[in-house]
Amino acid sequence: MSIPKAELHLHIEGTLEPELAFALAARNGVTLPYADTEELREAYRFDDLQTFLNLYYELMAVLRTEADFADLADAYLTRAAAQGVRHAEIFFDPQAHIARGVPMGTVVEGLWRTLGRSEETHGVSTRLIMCFLRDESAESAMDTLEAAKPHLDRITGIGLDSAEVGHPPAKFRAVYEAAAELGLRRVAHAGEEGPPAYITEALDVLGVERVDHGLRCMEDPELVERLVRERVPLTLCPLSNVRLRAVDVLAEHPLPAMMDAGLLCTVNSDDPAYFGGYAGDNFDAVREALGLGEERLRELARNSFEASFLEHDEERRARYIAEVEAYEFP
Ligand code: ADE
Ligand code: ZN
Repeated sequence: MSIPKAELHLHIEGTLEPELAFALAARNGVTLPYADTEELREAYRFDDLQTFLNLYYELMAVLRTEADFADLADAYLTRAAAQGVRHAEIFFDPQAHIARGVPMGTVVEGLWRTLGRSEETHGVSTRLIMCFLRDESAESAMDTLEAAKPHLDRITGIGLDSAEVGHPPAKFRAVYEAAAELGLRRVAHAGEEGPPAYITEALDVLGVERVDHGLRCMEDPELVERLVRERVPLTLCPLSNVRLRAVDVLAEHPLPAMMDAGLLCTVNSDDPAYFGGYAGDNFDAVREALGLGEERLRELARNSFEASFLEHDEERRARYIAEVEAYEFP
């Protein structure tokens, strides 16, 4: 579905398609433990977040040079633009690269080769959000923020991702405070597999402005009321939730109930190469499985721009929202 939209929950490493993985492996002399793209695709069956993360981190071995990161971002933007994405706020996981000997500068400057001119080349405005791995230490997160300081003109905000259960947000209080002082925007994954209390903690302790996933807020009516009252955006990822078994089937996804409750919901792709679809595919899927009508779909698209970090560019936000209002469904 090509309705104009912003993508607010997208891990650039999760856009690594099998074909590109093998091409980069060949370019860098890396051997993957899969015979071909078909065998690799066979591995895309996940029981939960951790079984996905195992493959996600394993395949990162092929990303080594600035050109690799530039090509990865270029491939994503080409697919996203074809599905109506006009603005993308893109996560990256520097610790997963630094641990393999790929420095922060290679990652950020490589991505920037593409993102720095994405409007001209793909018609998509972009922002970068640096995520900390919550299953690593708070000290490692602080070291990562320090390593990012020479590149802060490229980075809009910080996020928190990786294995959620057992790694509550409060562990990262100090690094979120330090990031806020540097003028960085703050988001965090919460309530994907972890309990609703993690969502509350991300708001109260980390000061997040958007919650990534936030699915499990529906277990706590008082939290829902708060999220509605404070208009906290949630970046939902329906196809991801099915593939990682957060919901059994898409038809049982709580998105319609969440919208009925007045929550500010957005629809995103998370790790599209692994979960079977990019942003427009996620819109198509919820339309079909959940019977969302045109006005609900238009609301999701409008929400995505309202929740975007475009505060220095209100003229652009207004232009994007006007495109949503003018969109005619086929
Ligand atoms: N890293 C990449 N995708 C993720 C997700 N859905 N949840 C947590 N960490 C991730
Ligand atoms: Zn995610």
